[in-house]
Amino acid sequence: MDFKELIKVRQSNRAYQDRAVEKEKIEQCLEAGRLSPSANNAQGWTFVTVDDVELKNRVAESAYRMGGAFVKQAPVIIVLVAEKPLFMSKFGSALRKIDFSSLDIGIAAAHICLQAADLGLGTCMLESFDEKSIKTLLNIPDNRRVALLITLGYSADIQREKKRKKLDEVVRWNKY
Ligand SMILES: Cc1cc2nc3c(=O)[nH]c(=O)nc-3n(C[C@H](O)[C@H](O)[C@H](O)COP(=O)(O)O)c2cc1C
Repeated sequence: MDFKELIKVRQSNRAYQDRAVEKEKIEQCLEAGRLSPSANNAQGWTFVTVDDVELKNRVAESAYRMGGAFVKQAPVIIVLVAEKPLFMSKFGSALRKIDFSSLDIGIAAAHICLQAADLGLGTCMLESFDEKSIKTLLNIPDNRRVALLITLGYSADIQREKKRKKLDEVVRWNKY
C-alpha cells in the first residue's frame, strides 16, 4: 500500500470479525516491531502474543473491566512488555527526564499497527487494563511493566475520517 494511504487506513479498530488471523501475518507484524528503532538500540521490549482463545479472553477481560468491551472480539492480543532498561538508556532517561523506554515501545507499537494495516488487519492500542492480572495470567515477572496492549484481527469497524488538529496548529517553522 502507498504510505500515505496506509497512514489513512490505519485506525483504532473497535470491532472485529469472527475470523482467525493467519500465523504468518501475525509474525509479519511482530517482525515490524522487532525492526523498529530504539534509544541506544536497547530494544527493551518483549511482545507477548496471545492467541490461545481462552487465555486471550481472560486477558481481554482485564481490559474489558476498564471499558474495552470490543477487546474480546479480537482473535489476538499483543502485550508489549517493557524490559529492564539498559544502563545507557536509564542514564539518558534520568539525565533528560524523558522515559525513553515508553518512547521506544510507542514506536514499536506504531510499526506493528502500520504493518497490520498493510496486511488488511485492524488494530487498537490500549493503555486501559489491569496490569496486575495480565502479569499473573501471562507469567510476566513483577519487575517488568506492561506498557501497552494491541488488539489484532480482521476489522468489522467502519473506516473513519481522521479527527486531527490542523497542521498549522502543531507545526512551527524554525522557532516555537
Ligand atoms: C498509547 C495509546 C493508548 C491508547 N489507549 C486506548 C485505550 O485504552 N482504549 C481505546 O479504545 N483506544 C486507545 N487508544 C486509541 C486512541 O484513542 C486513538 O489512537 C485516537 O483516538 C486516534 O484515533 P485513530 O487511532 O482511530 O486514528 C490509544 C492510543 C494510543 C496511541
